[in-house]
Amino acid sequence: MKFAAIAAMTTALLAAPAFAEGDAAKGEKTFKKCKSCHTIADGDNVITKGGKTGPNLFGLPSRVIGSTDFKYSKSAAAASELGAEWTEEDFIAWVANPTDFLRTKLDDPKAKSKMSFRLKKADDAADVWAYLVSVSPES
Ligand code: HEC
Repeated sequence: MKFAAIAAMTTALLAAPAFAEGDAAKGEKTFKKCKSCHTIADGDNVITKGGKTGPNLFGLPSRVIGSTDFKYSKSAAAASELGAEWTEEDFIAWVANPTDFLRTKLDDPKAKSKMSFRLKKADDAADVWAYLVSVSPES
């Protein structure tokens, strides 16, 4: 009995992907930390009501960095000129430290983001990314 349970667990572990995917349900909870500054809204369809200190995050996973009508920092606007779409990797680096992210992207030690918040744990950030993907249009 015990052996069967262990065998079943081992099989489940082996079946898991090498890199854990983010958990959208957990990410929705973690997004509470972002809500004071960020709304997720598709036009009038508000998915998560939040503040306006930061840009609307609807459809972020297929958006170019800094590409909404939000008034971005000079550095985020400069990063937008590079034309790169958000990837999970960049998103995790951004939320861990937006200013460092912009300094690396722009190769400019003086770059600075307007976003003061930090979400340090990469796992939490991966969950939020999965949540944003789950509420975004399929691309
Ligand atoms: C205290 C307010 C605040 C909080 C809390 C906050 N942000 Fe931000 N966020 C901003 C601001 C302001 C910007 C614009 C940054 C700039 O212009 O440099 C921004 C920009 C962003 C961007 C870039 C969007 C784009 O259009 O390219 C992402 C992604 C982002 N935030 C994700 C998050 C996530 C995820 C959280 C929660 C873990 C979070 N933010 C929490 C204020 C905040």
